[in-house]
Amino acid sequence: MLRPKLCIGMSLAPTWLSGEGWRAPDSGIEGLYSADFALDIARKAEAAHLDFVFRPDASFLMVEPLEQSFGFSSVDPTLLVAALVRETSKIGLVTTISTTFGHPYTAARQIMSLHWMSRGRAGWNMVTALQGNQNFGLPDMPSSEARYARAEEFTDIVQKLWQSFPAEALLVDRDTGRYADTDLILPINHHGATFDVEGPLNIPEYAGPRIPLMQAGGSAMGIDYAARTADMVFALTPDIDTAAKMRAQLSERARAHNRSPAAVRMLPGLSLYLGATRAEARDLFMATHARVTRSERLQRLQAATGLDLSDWPEDRHVTAADLAQAKRGGQYDKLLRLIAAERPTLADLLTRPETLASLHWQVIGTVEEAQAEITRWFRAGAIDGFVAVPGGSTRSLDLTLTELIPRLAEAGLYRSEYTGDTLIHHLEEDPPLV
Ligand SMILES: Cc1cc2nc3c(=O)[nH]c(=O)nc-3n(C[C@H](O)[C@H](O)[C@H](O)COP(=O)(O)O)c2cc1C
Repeated sequence: MLRPKLCIGMSLAPTWLSGEGWRAPDSGIEGLYSADFALDIARKAEAAHLDFVFRPDASFLMVEPLEQSFGFSSVDPTLLVAALVRETSKIGLVTTISTTFGHPYTAARQIMSLHWMSRGRAGWNMVTALQGNQNFGLPDMPSSEARYARAEEFTDIVQKLWQSFPAEALLVDRDTGRYADTDLILPINHHGATFDVEGPLNIPEYAGPRIPLMQAGGSAMGIDYAARTADMVFALTPDIDTAAKMRAQLSERARAHNRSPAAVRMLPGLSLYLGATRAEARDLFMATHARVTRSERLQRLQAATGLDLSDWPEDRHVTAADLAQAKRGGQYDKLLRLIAAERPTLADLLTRPETLASLHWQVIGTVEEAQAEITRWFRAGAIDGFVAVPGGSTRSLDLTLTELIPRLAEAGLYRSEYTGDTLIHHLEEDPPLV
């Protein structure tokens, strides 16, 4: 544990309506492309004293999945979080802007605007993105190396632009009639491998705490980039060992960049299917995935076990002896452990949650079980907090915010009141333990 308390964010991507979730009568799906939807969640998240709400984003559309659910269709993330500014007063507002497809001048201006408008609550999730090149005039997706090189340059420019019209330059002195000290407003004259940006930025720096940065991307290059620049990492770690390993890598790279490991908070996505009993939560999970086809399930089993089970009789048992070509680690571990322990039939395996498990850390169970799991990962030093990604239903979302978070607070692992009203304040409220 690097800090005494968890850092908790709430994803505004409506994951609890994915799959079949949107079809529930009370889902409110008709409001998906309106701000009301996010407003409701932001208010509930603020009532639970969360550090921030956060909108992931993609700049492309996969059309086929739209037959069944909303997929990646969404409103613009920065406009969406800007709509939350006047309806909330404490919670952090984190938007996503891609360093591969965006431009640093526009990004710097939008995020600083959000920071002013929210009085110090903005955050930026920097993503290099996985798809979408065809929408930005790029014939192919640039390589990982090229994307991270551009990301480093992009982030440096954004930070220089934020400093180019410093808060001290803003005088607003009615008596003398001096609005700004122009000696302090300087161009950045950036000429790099990808960008030429003169500056200065056309909005001053906010006269308060700085804008925290979040990063999402788990390769060695992504971890190094995060360790150099980010305050938070949105991570994809399905099991505690993967999380602990990534936390250790982040700490090692942070030290290499002369930063304290505690300065970079590791926050995996946490998929939560919550119910009054474990059976209820499992039913919710399976109902949400009801239209995942047999062939998709077989593909997932093949990815984990290395076996093409499509010709196997339904009543044949899958056993530990069948796992010679299995992919160990990460998202497949729960499934492989289940096979080794229970020797399920193929028919049984096709209907088990483990076959359909999320790439994220996932709890399918009661609030108590979720609390125990979070506590275990936190106490083991594998995480500094998490980004809640509730699944299945609005009830699962509500249980997360109205029962799980208060329990963590009661146990002393989370705040029970806000003591400030900026995102940096929330992140740095308690001094690190190391
Ligand atoms: C947990 C997680 C969340 C991500 N969220 C987004 C996102 O919202 N938008 C996006 O364009 N890319 C997103 N990405 C993709 C990353 O920005 C990055 O392009 C990708 O992971 C490849 O980099 P890597 O090899 O370092 O992981 C996400 C990646 C991870 C691991």
